[in-house]
Amino acid sequence: MIDTTIRTFIATASAGLEGVVKRELIQLGFRDARAELGGVRFRTDFSGAFRACMWLSCADRVLLVVAEGRCETFEELFQLVRNAPWAELMPRDARIPVSGRCARSRLMSVRDCQAITKKAIVDHLLQAYHARTLPESGARFQVDVALHGDIARVTLDACGDALNRRGYRTLNGEAPLRETLAAALVRLSAWQGDTPLHDPCCGTGTLLIEAAFYAAHRAPGLMRSFDMERWPHVDAAALENIRKDAQAQYDPGRIPPISGSDISPEALKLCRHHIRQAELEGKIQICQKDLRELSLTQTGVCFLCNPPYGERLGDRRQCESLYRAFRPLMARHDGCTLHVITSHPGFERVSGLRAQKRTRLYNGRLECEFMRFV
Ligand SMILES: C[S@@+](CC[C@H](N)C(=O)[O-])C[C@H]1O[C@@H](n2cnc3c(N)ncnc32)[C@H](O)[C@@H]1O
Repeated sequence: MIDTTIRTFIATASAGLEGVVKRELIQLGFRDARAELGGVRFRTDFSGAFRACMWLSCADRVLLVVAEGRCETFEELFQLVRNAPWAELMPRDARIPVSGRCARSRLMSVRDCQAITKKAIVDHLLQAYHARTLPESGARFQVDVALHGDIARVTLDACGDALNRRGYRTLNGEAPLRETLAAALVRLSAWQGDTPLHDPCCGTGTLLIEAAFYAAHRAPGLMRSFDMERWPHVDAAALENIRKDAQAQYDPGRIPPISGSDISPEALKLCRHHIRQAELEGKIQICQKDLRELSLTQTGVCFLCNPPYGERLGDRRQCESLYRAFRPLMARHDGCTLHVITSHPGFERVSGLRAQKRTRLYNGRLECEFMRFV
């Protein structure tokens, strides 16, 4: 039977991106979206959750909250999980991997929390299906048990692979940006998707591709599948319609001039490969160029850039010499704007530019600032 129950979901987000993900959810029509540390809560049915999986650009995962409550002992955790409605969600043959995390919790052993969660789910399903064994041969239902202090949250992952896995990036270059962070930078920039955009340190092309997706209204999940598409209680026809609608909304004709350059021929090789994988050949132009010599013919260009940060000892001097080239770059381009993300605390001092706007973000574990210059 198709399940149209309204349930609570969380779109997880890396630190600093919760607000961007909340805005995305509200734009998708989830008006009750509520940001919290590490994610955004919203209520919808399975079809709505699939729409979120398909369209969210900046979130990491979409999780269904199955059980949540205070647990100070393993017995309390067992009871919390066992009493959750697993048989409403999983068939008898569900494959049930369980991951876990604990932070400042009395229940410190992640491995024990995982084992107890699994045991409680299995117990529940055996009773509900009047079975003596579970074959675990069917669709994957990835469970996560997360303890923060004494609060346990048990979730089911609707996505499978994390949402940054769009399907176009198959090779990694030097410090590539995560797709979700690149998409967030596009949204946090002043760029509206209808004027020229250039990344002068484009590396493997993540910013360029995410910018093109944004301009073309291309759902980031269009080229991949999600675990929930294989869940039996989910309305497969409704999901298929959401996919078809996303396909219909994709309009590559809307992409304005988007281009990139990089000093490294190896990086450009990967970039070309990713542009091809993303089916954006002919829509993004790239060339080998030192940023110090870059001169574009267009006016009003939006430069969006993830330069080297000089994190490794010895790289800092070289990186600062590159930072000094940003002011002349702006001077050479009438009406341009520049957006830079870096963990280097002295970008403004070294470049001689003063940011009009700054946003604090994390690139992996590195605390960074995303700055806008006009
Ligand atoms: C942090 S990586 C960019 C990664 C990129 N955002 C991605 O997702 O793959 C920095 C890039 O700056 C490039 N770079 C370093 N010095 C440069 C210069 N003088 N001119 C142009 N590019 C430069 C490097 O080759 C490298 O690809």
